[in-house]
Amino acid sequence: MTQAPIARFTRLRHATFTSPDPERLLDYYRVVIGLGLVARDGGRLFLANESEQLSLVIERGDAALQSIAFEISPDVQIEALGAALKQAGLRPELHSDPLPGVSRLLSFSDPEGTRFELIQGWTPTPAQERIGGLAVAKLGHVALRTPDPQAASEFYANVMGLRVSDWIEDRFVFMRSGFEHHTLNFARAPVRNLHHFAFELRGPDHMHRACDHLARHKLPVLWGPVRHGPGHNTAIYHRNPDGHLVELFCDLDRMTDEALGYFEPRPWHRDRPQRPKVWVGLPRDVWGMAPSPECTEFAR
Ligand SMILES: [Fe+2]
Repeated sequence: MTQAPIARFTRLRHATFTSPDPERLLDYYRVVIGLGLVARDGGRLFLANESEQLSLVIERGDAALQSIAFEISPDVQIEALGAALKQAGLRPELHSDPLPGVSRLLSFSDPEGTRFELIQGWTPTPAQERIGGLAVAKLGHVALRTPDPQAASEFYANVMGLRVSDWIEDRFVFMRSGFEHHTLNFARAPVRNLHHFAFELRGPDHMHRACDHLARHKLPVLWGPVRHGPGHNTAIYHRNPDGHLVELFCDLDRMTDEALGYFEPRPWHRDRPQRPKVWVGLPRDVWGMAPSPECTEFAR
């Protein structure tokens, strides 16, 4: 008998990064990505998107991802969830009023030491300033490196309720927490750390504008525009001032009904219907050039 997962991640909410130069990073997010400063708390900076939802937290430190926050259902008893995570050896901590717009947060570290935050509900956290730059729609997904993507996918499926959307051979797994093709990915690499993270754009016009906007800010597009195979999103990749690879994407596959088990049909799908599968061989992408040499290590 299959056991129900302990938790069920739903929406990806925000990510926390440390940066050696938080002000430089803040400037990039304001001017290029289009997030706005909500508040400062000691050394911490809180940034929201145009929909007044917390999207990023920046703290001073080495350039690194610190945690990833997902929302859980309002029906979940958070204390009971904490007890269940504890029983599973995950050492959860419950925090009250930890972040703007978030009243309760349950944090834990996964078996490879990446910190996750589970939150219920939210109140709007408008930026103190007019949102400029690209005004991205939201934080869309985070991809982590791991020595063992199979083990990671099993943990996130069996314990955290994510579903596998696609594999690239046995080295890259795309997992969905809601209807979108992926919110959390794992790529095979020697150590656990960040592979890339991605913000969602609103459509092809926005993608076109993003290419022009990155050029104006002298941020080379390292890969793309491309329409990927897995997920079938269009995407461009660049590096932020801390050297992290940032993807801007739109038009991601959606599994609007889990019971049907396939992604909403789209003209560029090669399989009809397009079900989760293992992608083997090239060409994988629907169109677009191969990644630039600087970007190949990130080729998913
Ligand atoms: Fe991505």
